[in-house]
Amino acid sequence: MDEDESSFLRACRGNRTQRTPVWMMRQAGRYLPEYRAVREKVSFLELCRAPQLCAEVTMQPLERFDLDAAILFSDILVVFDAMGVDVEFAPGPRLPNPVRTTSDVARLRWGDPREELRYVMDAVRACKRAVTGRAPLIGFCGAPLTIISYLIEGGGSRDFEHTKRMLFSAPEVFEGLMSAMTSLLVQYLQGQVEAGADAIQIFDSWAGALTPQDYRARVLPHVDRLVREARGFGVPVIMFARGNAHHLEGIASTDADVIGVDWTMGLSTAIDVVGEDRVVQGNLDPMLLLGAPETLVARTREVVAAGRRARAHVFNLGHGISRHTDPEMAKLMIDTVHE
Ligand code: CP3
Repeated sequence: MDEDESSFLRACRGNRTQRTPVWMMRQAGRYLPEYRAVREKVSFLELCRAPQLCAEVTMQPLERFDLDAAILFSDILVVFDAMGVDVEFAPGPRLPNPVRTTSDVARLRWGDPREELRYVMDAVRACKRAVTGRAPLIGFCGAPLTIISYLIEGGGSRDFEHTKRMLFSAPEVFEGLMSAMTSLLVQYLQGQVEAGADAIQIFDSWAGALTPQDYRARVLPHVDRLVREARGFGVPVIMFARGNAHHLEGIASTDADVIGVDWTMGLSTAIDVVGEDRVVQGNLDPMLLLGAPETLVARTREVVAAGRRARAHVFNLGHGISRHTDPEMAKLMIDTVHE
């Protein structure tokens, strides 16, 4: 298959496709026994730093399922390697030295990811060689808020206390971090596109932590710049923010080619918000893959039907696939989308 003819890329560019293209967030991961077999031999970070293994793991779900896109195997948090910031996965991310004060921020190094994340660029090239003729390759990064929240909190968080303390008590420090991080992410995406990524997805996993007012005023301008500059590299950009229900309008105000929709909102309602002239991606609740097959099939058909009202629709889960998923259920969902 020629990548230019792929239903995924055509849908991203706003063309209605005969068959709804489908891929799954976290499609290469622990729900696959062949992934777990690789992980018995190497740690998660060793895997991310071994381009050949990344290509192998990226291909695993494509060998099993009729997927319309592949995604680079990596993580949004490896970007800290360009900044000399340590991160561990146990299995959730942990940063032993969180950045909270003005002097912590001043000590940060803003390396060029095109140089310092060579192993990611090599992984893109290796994945691209592996997927060519089979499917387009999606590159990705975290959105600036999501990345700096890990930096400030020192890991995952429920309340984002430290991030919000900075936002509300030292707004200029927050702004400086957001701005510098956005510039670094632009370079990172440029490197991935130059290495062969056919599309880009930006993950704002923690968008939902902020009020609509703060997201719009303090975050959206940076997301808007990241999307605009990434589009300038010539590939479609998918913008996925979790906590959609209150940020979707803001996200739709960016130039993103595709608006990712999480599972917390009905796809039809999301299309009302973003407009029928936009391309949407989403949004089956990944936990439906843990339920009864008949329920999965019925709900998958509902999402496909709802997507027909959009300019074009890329079927996906509304968040990453659960590690407890039976791969046969993923197959059933994908085949249902295509039927
Ligand atoms: O298949 C793919 O989607 C590509 C690879 C990918 C991973 N992480 C692999 C991974 C992508 C695109 C990501 C994005 C990512 N990473 C996000 C944004 C999406 C989201 O979930 O909201 C975030 C917030 C992270 C940070 C991160 N990485 C967390 C919170 C964890 C722990 C998750 C857990 O369930 O334990 C990771 C680790 C991680 N990233 C794994 C994988 C396959 C599991 C690691 C393992 O093999 O032990």
